Amino acid sequence: MKNILSGIQPTGDLHIGNYFGAVQNWVRLQEEYNCFYGVVDYHSMTMPYKADQLRENTWKMVFYLLACGIKPENLFVQSLVPEHAELAWVLSCLTPYGELSRMTQFKDKTDQLKETDKEAFVSAGLFSYPVLQAADILIYHADYVPVGKDQEQHLELSRNIAQRFNFQFDKEYFRHPEPLFTETPKILSPADPSKKMSKSLGEKHYINLFGDEDRVRKQVKSAVTDTGDTPAGTMSPGVENLFEILRACGQLDAYTALMTDYKAGALRYSNLKETVADALAALTSAFRERLHTLHADKRAVKAQIQDSSAVIRKRAQQTLKEVREITGLLSMKV
Ligand code: TRP
Repeated sequence: MKNILSGIQPTGDLHIGNYFGAVQNWVRLQEEYNCFYGVVDYHSMTMPYKADQLRENTWKMVFYLLACGIKPENLFVQSLVPEHAELAWVLSCLTPYGELSRMTQFKDKTDQLKETDKEAFVSAGLFSYPVLQAADILIYHADYVPVGKDQEQHLELSRNIAQRFNFQFDKEYFRHPEPLFTETPKILSPADPSKKMSKSLGEKHYINLFGDEDRVRKQVKSAVTDTGDTPAGTMSPGVENLFEILRACGQLDAYTALMTDYKAGALRYSNLKETVADALAALTSAFRERLHTLHADKRAVKAQIQDSSAVIRKRAQQTLKEVREITGLLSMKV
């Protein structure tokens, strides 16, 4: 079986864009692949954060992912496998500075920081973050990495690093990880459908998968539909987004019926919104229920993930043992 690795930052909430765009796919992939899914808390240290908040958000994300159907044995917390950081160091010595300087996400995130504060602190960690991501991937010899298009550049870097390692030490050691671009729905912000749904835009811009039903309904109700600047004969992005959500929820009959209305010029937006709100409420209520069950014994769930992380760590330790050997470091006494 081929290996799959992916990671998600513990950002506090999991929104429907994350779910339909990534997590739902991760759940499905578990059937066919040997999967490693990490809550990548080391990565979250690259932007300003508070210590207690990070720890809380890491556990929160663990519970959310389990409630979505990620199997506990496939889930680990990155910092419980400190070998990721060790491998990142080794790999950083094989990463061309110039290539790292061309990472567009670094520029985007720096701009984002400077937007709120011109003097904002930009860490070297934010700069070298793609090397840590390469370590996440290579440490488990991943064949495929399910990611969005925004991560394409980081994936290419990971492949280049693997190649340089193999060349430098004259050994076909690391595999060349390929991105797995599964067709997933792109969900937009309900408040500004010109942008992708994202937490960083603010509360109005994302629908929390585990939010309470009233709030979900309100957000759908107030979703922007006609923006006025849509060329005649095309569907406005806001309306398209609502249709997309409906389809993502698996409500194909309702989707087709409403689309027929739309084409006949007879669609009432209030009707579309109500159907979308119902679909989301149905979907999220199942998730909330599972989350509720998991919360009933938090301690047991946390212990389970500590254990699965320890098991996964064994794989990472094996890689590091080999890497130490290959790169000229001393072997550790066991
Ligand atoms: N950088 C990814 C993001 O911002 C998260 C991530 C970290 C990741 N490590 C990874 C994704 C390894 C895929 C593989 O979304």
